[in-house]
Amino acid sequence: MTDIKKGLAGVVVDETSISKVNPDTNSLLYRGYPVQELAATQPFEAVAYLLWNSELPTEEQLAELRAAERQHRALPDDVKTVIDLVPLNTHPMDEVRTAVSLLGAQDLARGSSSVLDASGDPAQNLDRSIRLYAALPAIVAYGQRRRRGEELIAPRDDLDYAANFLWMTFGEEPDDVVVDAFNRSMILYAEHSFNASTFTGRVVASTLSDLYSAVTAAIGALKGALHGGANEAVLHIFDEIGDASNVSAWLDQALAEKRKVMGFGHRVYKKGDSRVPTMEAALGTLVEHYDRQDVADLYNTLKDEFIARKGIYPNLDYPSGPAYNLIGFDTLTFTPLFVAARVTGWTTHIMEQQASNALIRPLSEYIGPDERHVPGYVPDA
Ligand code: ACO
Repeated sequence: MTDIKKGLAGVVVDETSISKVNPDTNSLLYRGYPVQELAATQPFEAVAYLLWNSELPTEEQLAELRAAERQHRALPDDVKTVIDLVPLNTHPMDEVRTAVSLLGAQDLARGSSSVLDASGDPAQNLDRSIRLYAALPAIVAYGQRRRRGEELIAPRDDLDYAANFLWMTFGEEPDDVVVDAFNRSMILYAEHSFNASTFTGRVVASTLSDLYSAVTAAIGALKGALHGGANEAVLHIFDEIGDASNVSAWLDQALAEKRKVMGFGHRVYKKGDSRVPTMEAALGTLVEHYDRQDVADLYNTLKDEFIARKGIYPNLDYPSGPAYNLIGFDTLTFTPLFVAARVTGWTTHIMEQQASNALIRPLSEYIGPDERHVPGYVPDA
């Protein structure tokens, strides 16, 4: 009997030097640094630099990356035109995927992309990664604004990444406490080893396809509710429950119907997601800032009751969903926010895959009909 590892569960498919997930010690390291230390001390830009370059930036290197990011922040007119063609009743992940695809085609058309090997060289791909990371906030922010019938807002050169992202979304200068919580969420979402979307990106890169194709595919994988889509699903659950006093009755019914409670459970972490305490603390600052103890009550009651009943712990999407809601993001924008953060991890993995490539091509156990023959087929003599 072939030992089938459904969902590749527990299978180690390659080495990586980008991040280490250790479910036994409940820790997550980016290039060796604990993610909670990075979230407490660094701007998202520095963590992006760390992922791409293996070391935290000097002040000069950070300034250089920030300058490059500012250069590519504005939404190009033709990308806006294409986003406007995406029907408003589709999920904004579809427009994010489409916009990245267009940016890729335009960039590849400027270079000399080869059909035999479209993967590009490392310097080219780092440059492409920076441009995507710089362009995504405008794409995501505009996605929310156009759904609200609002105009595009131009970026502000005097604001760093997180503050400018919030500015482009809301058109108001954000409070420091909000910028800080948002910045922490972006750092926590940036990277998580061989998760489904990152692995998807690596599969595409392994065929010698280009970085944009790999990122576009990763966006498709992230969209699903079992992965990135869970952060918005958490808010739907909160909306359904309404108030902490309804949690018990809601859980009785959800468990009776064998529903999955989104934002709980993880393929790798079984005793708690290492990122949750940091994001919970950020949510706490937002609860205080917006004076919304009702959100904290619902959050804690559902968490405590679900852990008590099922022994399944929250993942990062559980605290980030309500945090993004308090900041003012629409529920549909949550997964695109995840894209804007995770593009740093994806592109780092794509480049790592390219640097020591082997085509990713697993095997399957065939369980279809035995060989049979088409009626009337006569083999050539
Ligand atoms: N609610 C209810 N039951 C759950 C949940 C949940 N959230 N998660 C796991 N379980 C149960 C399953 O029903 C299953 O029970 P059974 O053995 O009685 O059938 C058991 O726990 C094992 O669950 P699987 O889904 O098989 O475990 P897996 O490791 O494949 O699941 C997954 C991981 C997909 C994340 C799962 O926990 C889930 O669906 N959670 C909800 C979606 C979610 O929050 N995804 C976000 C992932 S993290 C991220 O992307 C940042």
